[in-house]
Amino acid sequence: KRVVVFISGGGSNMMALLAATEAADFPAEIVGVISDKASAGGLAKAEAKGIPTFVFERKFYAGKAEHEAAVLAKLGEIAPDLICLAGYMRLLSADFIRSYEGRILNIHPSLLPLFPGLHTHQRAIDAGMKVAGCTVHFVTEGMDEGPVIAQSVVPVLIDDTPETLAARVLTVEHQTYAAALKLVASGKVSMRGDGSVERLSSE
Ligand code: GRF
Repeated sequence: KRVVVFISGGGSNMMALLAATEAADFPAEIVGVISDKASAGGLAKAEAKGIPTFVFERKFYAGKAEHEAAVLAKLGEIAPDLICLAGYMRLLSADFIRSYEGRILNIHPSLLPLFPGLHTHQRAIDAGMKVAGCTVHFVTEGMDEGPVIAQSVVPVLIDDTPETLAARVLTVEHQTYAAALKLVASGKVSMRGDGSVERLSSE
């Protein structure tokens, strides 16, 4: 399966996916990286691994529709089977998502449906959570609400700050995203038309 990764920042999740896809038996290959930020640190990391990168800065486009049209045109050339959002800090329109229905994955740094949106680690600490974690889900029109593919849990420690918790969650994000991509790329997990997740195996 051909995968394009979308980033806006450091791209540590992108790098984890890249490392996983280097395994000979991994059912996907990363064929491109798209960013909405020329400053995204992940771009240089992708280029160092020989992955083509493409930047679409939002400010150069009249509106969201024009910005997405440019991204969709590039995707049409690359022809990915799957899109992995990895620290991509922009909401995709319903039209964009419909173009890749059931084929867009995202990683979110909380145990959805808890704490959709931003500042998830501060909110988990404020809520007195004893566990936190991450969720890989199929992207649907609402933000951070699509059917769940994989989740991982980490403890919240008594002296945790948002930074220490974020670091602990980030390490499990990397392994969780790689596992989730393998499940979807291998066809073991897919999204049904009604938005539910179909699991074709116990794994
Ligand atoms: C991570 O916490 C991820 O969950 C969120 O963006 C943060 C940075 O990700 N989506 P990365 O290091 O750019 O992959």
